Amino acid sequence: MDLNAFFKITYGVYIITTKFEDKLNGMIATAVCQVTAEPVQMTLGINKESLTHEIILKTGCVGVNALRQETDFNFIGNFGFKSGRNINKLEGIGFMTGATGVPLLVDNTVAVFEGRVIDKMDAGTHTIFLVEAVEAKILTEEFPLSYEYYHNVIKGKSPKFAPTFIVNKA
Ligand SMILES: Cc1cc2nc3c(=O)[nH]c(=O)nc-3n(C[C@H](O)[C@H](O)[C@H](O)COP(=O)(O)O)c2cc1C
Repeated sequence: MDLNAFFKITYGVYIITTKFEDKLNGMIATAVCQVTAEPVQMTLGINKESLTHEIILKTGCVGVNALRQETDFNFIGNFGFKSGRNINKLEGIGFMTGATGVPLLVDNTVAVFEGRVIDKMDAGTHTIFLVEAVEAKILTEEFPLSYEYYHNVIKGKSPKFAPTFIVNKA
């Protein structure tokens, strides 16, 4: 199997935001997809070892923040290569609070969505959450960041927990 073929699948780059009690968190995800229009539902693929996964199971509420194309790598790295178990990733980051209580980012985002988990599926390393949208807002008309741009222009990498991570099978 040519694993590089999977790079021909296009994705966006998002920050999934969550809140449990006083803890606010966000993590980068590419596994975000709108799957139905009425009602508006999205699927999210979230690694079971992430803090985000733990919080979503507890609260059932998520924010989905679509990044702008010109987001710099340090901003992405903060959310994609570190765990909120060790740091407060939202320190110094601008956000508003959504109807469900999750933070919705205003820094580097072109649109924000908010939803409640209505179903989930076990996918081994990840859980696929089915989320019904309760809010959606455009913040700027700038281009959204695609995974292709992140990879080829920003020269960003994917960590082990990203679904697009290539496992080397020697
Ligand atoms: C470009 C990129 C794409 C990623 N996509 C996903 C994804 O779709 N699902 C996922 O579970 N993790 C993904 N990750 C990894 C998480 O962002 C990372 O494991 C994060 O540190 C988890 O943070 P948390 O423990 O605070 O929840 C991605 C990371 C990067 C940099």
